[in-house]
Amino acid sequence: MKIAETKQETRKIVKKWKKQGLSVGLVPTMGFLHEGHESLILKSAAENDKTVVSVFVNPMQFGKNEDLEDYPRDFERDCSICRKAGADLIFHPCPQEMYPADFFSYVNVDRITEGLCGSDRPGHFRGVCTVVSKLFHITTPDRAYFGQKDAQQLAVIKKMVQDLDFDLQVIGCPTVREADGLAKSSRNTYLSPEERKAAAVIHRTLEYAKEAISQGQRDAGELKKELVSRIEKEPLAEIDYIELVDGELLQPVKVLKKPLLIAAAVRVGKTRLIDNYFWE
Ligand code: PAF
Repeated sequence: MKIAETKQETRKIVKKWKKQGLSVGLVPTMGFLHEGHESLILKSAAENDKTVVSVFVNPMQFGKNEDLEDYPRDFERDCSICRKAGADLIFHPCPQEMYPADFFSYVNVDRITEGLCGSDRPGHFRGVCTVVSKLFHITTPDRAYFGQKDAQQLAVIKKMVQDLDFDLQVIGCPTVREADGLAKSSRNTYLSPEERKAAAVIHRTLEYAKEAISQGQRDAGELKKELVSRIEKEPLAEIDYIELVDGELLQPVKVLKKPLLIAAAVRVGKTRLIDNYFWE
C-alpha cells in the first residue's frame, strides 16, 4: 500500500493504473477510521482493481464553532485499517495542498442542502461538495463509496454527480452499528460512558418509527410528535432536528410514502450525532 501526500503523486499513480486498464474505487474519509469506513474499503476492494482512501480532515466543511481542532486523528491506526481492508493507496494531503492561499472556487448544490443538517450547519455542504469534487478530479475513480449514515450528504453528492456530469458511480453503503444500535461514528469517542448509554435512544426511536410505519402509520405529523417525545424522555439528549422528508429532494412530507427519509440530529452532551431510517 502506498501513501501519497501530494495531488501530483496521487495523479501519477492513478494514471498508471488507468493506462493498464484497471478500475479504481475511492473511499473519501476524514480519518479516525472505524468499522463503517472499513466496510466501505472492503466493498471498494471487492468491486475495483484498485482502491484509494483519502484521509483529510476538511476544514472547509466545519463551521466556526464546530469541532475542527478537536476532531480525532490517528493516522498510524488509519493506515493499518486501510492496509488490512485492501486499500492500495492513501491520499493524505495537508490543508495547504488542498487549499492554497489563492483558492477561490466552490461547489454549491442548492435546495436539498437547505434543510436538515444544512440549516444547522451553514456552509457545511459547500465544503463537502468542494472537497469531494476535488477528490474526484484528483483520483478519477470509477466508483466512490459513502456511508448511508450521512443520508443528506449521500443525496447531495449523488445530485452533484448527476448535475455536473462526473463520470463515476456513487455507491451508498449500509450504516454499521454498535451492539445497542448506535451508528458508528468517529465522534462517538467524545461521549462519556453515561452519554454513550443515552445515545442509544436515537436508533431505538428510529426503530420505533420503522415499526409504526410497518403497522400502517402514514401521518407524518403524528409520527414526528411521537418520535420527538421519545427522544425528549432521555434527559441527556437534546434534539437539533428530527424530520420526515421525501427520499430524493429531502422536502418535508405530510403523508408517509416511499421513498421516505426520517433523519435525526441529536446532541448528547456536547456531541452532535446523526442517524436516519430510509424507507424504500
Ligand atoms: O463523510 C465524511 O467523512 C466527509 O464529509 C467527506 C465525504 C470525507 C468529505 O470530507
